[in-house]
Amino acid sequence: MGEENTDTGFATKTIHSGTKHIEGAVNTPIFQSSTYKLNEERYAGWAAGAQHTLLYARLSSVNSDAATEKICALEGAEDGLLFASGMAAISTTLLGLLSSGDHIVAAPDVYGGTYGLMTEELPRFGINVSFADMTDPASYEAAIEKNTKMLYIETLSNPVLKIADIPAFAEIAQRHNILLVIDNTFTTPWATKPIEMGCDLVIHSTTKYLGGHSDVIGGAVVGNADLISQLFIKKVHFGGSPDPHACYLLERGMRTLHARMPLHASNAHTLATRLAEHPMVSSVNHPMLKSDNQYELATKIMPNGTGMLAFTVVGGDGAASKFLSGLQLLFEATSLGGVESLVECPFNTSHMFVPEEVRIAAGINPGFVRMSVGIEDVEDLWRDIEQALNSIR
Ligand SMILES: Cc1ncc(COP(=O)(O)O)c(C=O)c1O
Repeated sequence: MGEENTDTGFATKTIHSGTKHIEGAVNTPIFQSSTYKLNEERYAGWAAGAQHTLLYARLSSVNSDAATEKICALEGAEDGLLFASGMAAISTTLLGLLSSGDHIVAAPDVYGGTYGLMTEELPRFGINVSFADMTDPASYEAAIEKNTKMLYIETLSNPVLKIADIPAFAEIAQRHNILLVIDNTFTTPWATKPIEMGCDLVIHSTTKYLGGHSDVIGGAVVGNADLISQLFIKKVHFGGSPDPHACYLLERGMRTLHARMPLHASNAHTLATRLAEHPMVSSVNHPMLKSDNQYELATKIMPNGTGMLAFTVVGGDGAASKFLSGLQLLFEATSLGGVESLVECPFNTSHMFVPEEVRIAAGINPGFVRMSVGIEDVEDLWRDIEQALNSIR
């Protein structure tokens, strides 16, 4: 990866790391080119493996290099790769590092697309998955078999926001000499630095907080340089590479990550506190509430907080749907991490095909609502939420 000044602070890195000042440009210009003029240096780079040579935009581009270097600087990673979506990053990582006969341990409440990949696709290639509890590292250890190659976790689970005790997982992975891969989409390196805690690879759906404006789909994998170079050739083979313009949008979005995240987190904390006191709300999931049973772990794993919260309205899924329809400012849509607040119910979106009893066992009770809290004025958000809650009384 490019030369980085490692002793700057997080905000300085979000603004300056990776940015290519070509022709004196303040921002990395958009290099909307699928291919690059070959010269001696590029032929040599091609011969050497091409990972950091500008040849063809499926391999890398000026804009993908800029955004990759920025994510690596923020995550403290040796190297990284960008993808056309978070799922392209995840599928390339799993299919690229695992082979027939291998086994991994994950949790049933990983992101739904990841769960589908693990249950419907990996077994077709002879890769077996065991599921354990992300809040209980010992359950992962108990599921390890002789052929286990990877433990797969997420910083915060969706939608009930359970926290993984990353250092405890790292200790287990290191003792068994297996890879620890984490999806850090929900907290970002602003709140959680999984590599410092012992993870080998960190995955992002950059569609979410890193992009931050709900205008681009993308993914990233960063971490150990040897693993990234193994994955580079898999990315070239599988082809899930991002377009330069998408990389440009991602880099531009990331330049304000440090400014956006504290607002997401403080707005979410304020709303969670008020929701917990509202008579039409029976429970609130937000690990930064002192009353939350994960609060202590949250202060260790994600001390800066999160913009995500969930809550259960009185009256079940019908009342939750009515609440959503009553909102005027908050937007009823799937996804998360954008500057605008988004709200959805798992029962008719992410968990539509999960039987109700399984949802309830996972903590998704009837009336469950997930909210990605944006950075609007918090009083405007609360006014809208309060009137929509009062309309279902
Ligand atoms: C935690 C997490 N990981 C991965 C993904 C997949 O990302 P994408 O939609 O960019 O493919 C998502 C999407 O919602 C997600 O929430």
